[in-house]
Amino acid sequence: MIIAVDGPAASGKGTIARALARHYGLPHLDTGLLYRAVGVAVMRAGGDPADPAQALAVCDFPAEMLADPALRSEEAGRAASIVSVHEAVRDALFARQRAFARQPGGAVLDGRDIGTVIAPDADAKLFVTASPAARAARRHAELQAGGGTRSLEAVLGDIYARDARDSNRAAAPLVQADDADLLDTTELGITAAVQRAIALVEARRTSG
Ligand code: DC
Repeated sequence: MIIAVDGPAASGKGTIARALARHYGLPHLDTGLLYRAVGVAVMRAGGDPADPAQALAVCDFPAEMLADPALRSEEAGRAASIVSVHEAVRDALFARQRAFARQPGGAVLDGRDIGTVIAPDADAKLFVTASPAARAARRHAELQAGGGTRSLEAVLGDIYARDARDSNRAAAPLVQADDADLLDTTELGITAAVQRAIALVEARRTSG
């Protein structure tokens, strides 16, 4: 079984994807980490993530880089969003994601284009959203817990900027697949959101 989980930044898609993977005993890939690895590699080389050639040159990074804690930072997320606009970068990262989705037994992948581009044949597709205000509040709380000092207004501004770049790019923009189930987590806690996600996947499974 392949489960595709897509949605905007801080929607809860990563938490939901991990919980689904645990529930079904499937391997999980957070595909945002691939774009973050490319963004971080360009910046470490002193380059510009907006330059497609520089980004393409580092797409062959070793798998161990995905465990680097630096990939979790806000700067890495911004750099990832910038390199992910380049079609050549998306093409270069396609095979790894496709191979992960196609492994025997199945997999859970989360990102922006899993249900539309990477695994259009997925057995279940969730499009996870929440209001920008709810997403900003969650991200702000996470940052504060980590000792960050960025204001809620600034975090909300980051969320709008990221949504605009991820949704308006030409190559594989963030969009709900026609056959994806919408899961709005604005009013849901983690437990309720995960229960709802499992119910939606079960409904798809049993409907064949
Ligand atoms: O999910 P995330 O915040 O780790 O993703 C970081 C950026 O990577 C996101 O802003 C856009 C890009 N991305 C993408 O274009 N396609 C994916 N499947 C996953 C992430």
